[in-house]
Amino acid sequence: MTVPVGILATGQNFGERLVTNHDLEAIVDTTDDWIVQRTGIRQRYWVEEGTGASDLAVPALMAALDEAGLTPDDLDAIIVTTVTPDTMFPATACRIQQKIGAANCYGFDLSAACSGFIYGVTVGAGLMSDPAMRYVAVVGVDVMSTIIDKTDRATCVLFGDGAGVAILGRVEPGYGVLDSYHRINGQGGDDLIMPAGGSKLPTSAATVAARQHYVHQNGGEVFKHAIEGMADACRAVLNRNDLTPEDIDLVVPHQANVRIINGAAQRLQIPLERVAINIENHGNTTSATIPSALHQARQAGRVKDGDKLILTSFGAGYTYGSVLMQWGGALNGRA
Ligand code: ACO
Repeated sequence: MTVPVGILATGQNFGERLVTNHDLEAIVDTTDDWIVQRTGIRQRYWVEEGTGASDLAVPALMAALDEAGLTPDDLDAIIVTTVTPDTMFPATACRIQQKIGAANCYGFDLSAACSGFIYGVTVGAGLMSDPAMRYVAVVGVDVMSTIIDKTDRATCVLFGDGAGVAILGRVEPGYGVLDSYHRINGQGGDDLIMPAGGSKLPTSAATVAARQHYVHQNGGEVFKHAIEGMADACRAVLNRNDLTPEDIDLVVPHQANVRIINGAAQRLQIPLERVAINIENHGNTTSATIPSALHQARQAGRVKDGDKLILTSFGAGYTYGSVLMQWGGALNGRA
């Protein structure tokens, strides 16, 4: 029987520049009141110019390795989930591997936008069906400040820069990842998109002039589908495992808008006391929202051994899903 896989440790890191809603009032036609009322965001952190995804990720990864009592050489794989890689290629996973000096691993980047981290956990756990794989790092990192149009008030107020990491390792039976449910729906592909810079529309003077190298979105559509998608994905893992919302100790949702989180929680009939929310301080950090919210919930003592958690997300693509886990049971290298 395959030994189950769980999260042994977590880490986080954010851009060094605090940007409050009041700071944004100075650059676009917005107000602190509008942003707080419509999104729940009060502040976010942006990087200084020149900081790439790998720079943001390394401190988060090193902290997580430290908590797990591991060194970079212990890693068998690094999965980086991001829509803002250092470069289109090579993979940011390779940059991170080189920066931390991990000598024994492979790795790759995974593109699933806001759902990247939960897809990464499922893929990482799958890789570990190979008994030779002992530790996999899932690195959710995005430097959204580099792809948002700072003249577009509808998008630039939403996003922050951050990295969140989980170290996957083997855990006792009954613990770790119990189930995953993931779906994609390309019908929503144009609702949240960076139109230029890919093979379909390579960057040119014309695409830059048209500001197509920035995030474009149909906010209302994304809003509606995000509530439905996360609620449906949570219900799927609950039903498949004969669980009810009362059995879940903590839901860690993607942090796009506090009204999306409230809407999904309401549909699931899960009280907000059992939902991890950190959007107020960080905005939407795309791939980093779930691992950082999980990390902060752990720091606040809200995650105990034996707790049942659901991680759930919805993002560009559309991509969405949920991961059901039982926290704890680390084997500390005993398997
Ligand atoms: N400040 C002030 N006014 C604003 C701002 C702003 N920053 N942004 C938009 N407005 C205005 C609009 O122009 C509009 O004005 P109008 O009525 O004169 O035309 C008015 O506010 C209402 O706009 P709506 O788009 O209807 O506002 P809504 O309440 O729907 O909120 C928002 C917009 C926050 C974008 C919401 O739709 C949303 O969160 N959607 C999800 C998008 C998202 O999260 N994308 C990120 C990635 S996807 C993901 O992570 C799931």
